Amino acid sequence: MPRITFSTVERSIEADEGTWMYEVAQEAKAGIPFACKAGACGACATQVLEGVEHFGEAGAREVRTLTAHKLDPATHRLPCLAEVHGDVVFGRPAKAPEKGAALQIHEAVVESYRPLNLTVAEVRFFVETASFAFKPGQYMIFHVPGSEKPLRRSYSISTPPSDKRHFEVCVRSVAGGLGSNYVHRLRPGMKVKVEGPVGEFILREKSQKNILMIATGTGIAPIKGMLLHLLDTHSKRKIRLFFGLRHDSDLFYTDLFRGLAAHYPEFRHQIILSSPDPAHWAGPRGHVTDLIEQQVSPADAATTEVYLCGGISMIESSKECLLRKGIPQDSIFHENFY
Ligand SMILES: Cc1cc2nc3c(=O)[nH]c(=O)nc-3n(C[C@H](O)[C@H](O)[C@H](O)COP(=O)(O)OP(=O)(O)OC[C@H]3O[C@@H](n4cnc5c(N)ncnc54)[C@H](O)[C@@H]3O)c2cc1C
Ligand code: FES
Repeated sequence: MPRITFSTVERSIEADEGTWMYEVAQEAKAGIPFACKAGACGACATQVLEGVEHFGEAGAREVRTLTAHKLDPATHRLPCLAEVHGDVVFGRPAKAPEKGAALQIHEAVVESYRPLNLTVAEVRFFVETASFAFKPGQYMIFHVPGSEKPLRRSYSISTPPSDKRHFEVCVRSVAGGLGSNYVHRLRPGMKVKVEGPVGEFILREKSQKNILMIATGTGIAPIKGMLLHLLDTHSKRKIRLFFGLRHDSDLFYTDLFRGLAAHYPEFRHQIILSSPDPAHWAGPRGHVTDLIEQQVSPADAATTEVYLCGGISMIESSKECLLRKGIPQDSIFHENFY
């Protein structure tokens, strides 16, 4: 039977061939922090001292996540994606384990399913756990049934915490995607298993700084949750939203943001499309980085904090632009989906 050793806690256990490595790590109390359990967040990245060959070649998702955390797949791997296939000796986890209990698993019932455009749908859930609570910006890990091996996918909560025992997600169906299409097949009355809430991409509620929110695609989900929370709690902070999509057929939540802007003078928003049909779109054309270039001034640097959510390339280019404008690194928060 393969032997898995966690050198930092000096613990070693035998595990059956094919067992999930994260189950072994959790059983051994190895001090490896797990969050998404889907190879997306990088929380569990750990040095492999011996036996890296038993992980097989790192897939595209793992390489992308490790690279985003400036880690080399030759020395670090994501145990949440690995099965046991031989002796392994782990070294130090790249991140310190977070304090606190393991994630809670909840059953949730689908209350509604609403298509927002041809590929994005909003799904509303009632959580059966009475004590369920979350912070604006956090996400839930969905257990996706139907495949041989356990499959988990993370989806951000798009509603504010005042909506007790409920949460909504807003999910784009990815061609051939197992998790996103599972969510798209959910209908009222169906039950799901979710873990969480999880995540550090949360609204800094004690700050008094103005807020710039930048989202592309379904990256709007946690941003919308934060925005509704700020408006719910009558925050006096000035909020600007830049929301980027590709085509005019991709538009969603346009009426929602227009309505919120009409009711809340402290909230302004702009939607920008990168490839609109000029016959159907008279608004700005380009990318969210164009709005940053045009509208963020060095005077914003000391008074503004920024929340970014969407794909990794948008986050990287927006961050670079914001830093150039003088926004300090520690005032920029982000969550990347892909
Ligand atoms: C913290 C966090 C929060 C997230 N919140 C949301 C959310 O609120 N809404 C949402 O829609 N998604 C969100 N995601 C992304 C989500 O978790 C999945 O990665 C996504 O739904 C694809 O999973 P899948 O199982 O459908 O596709 P997979 O079966 O994993 O992949 C199928 C194919 O599509 C490619 N692919 C995977 N993801 C994408 C993508 N996003 N765009 C293009 N191609 C892709 C893969 O490389 C693969 O070839 C979040 C991710 C993270 C890490
Ligand atoms: S827990 Fe392994 S990458 Fe998120």
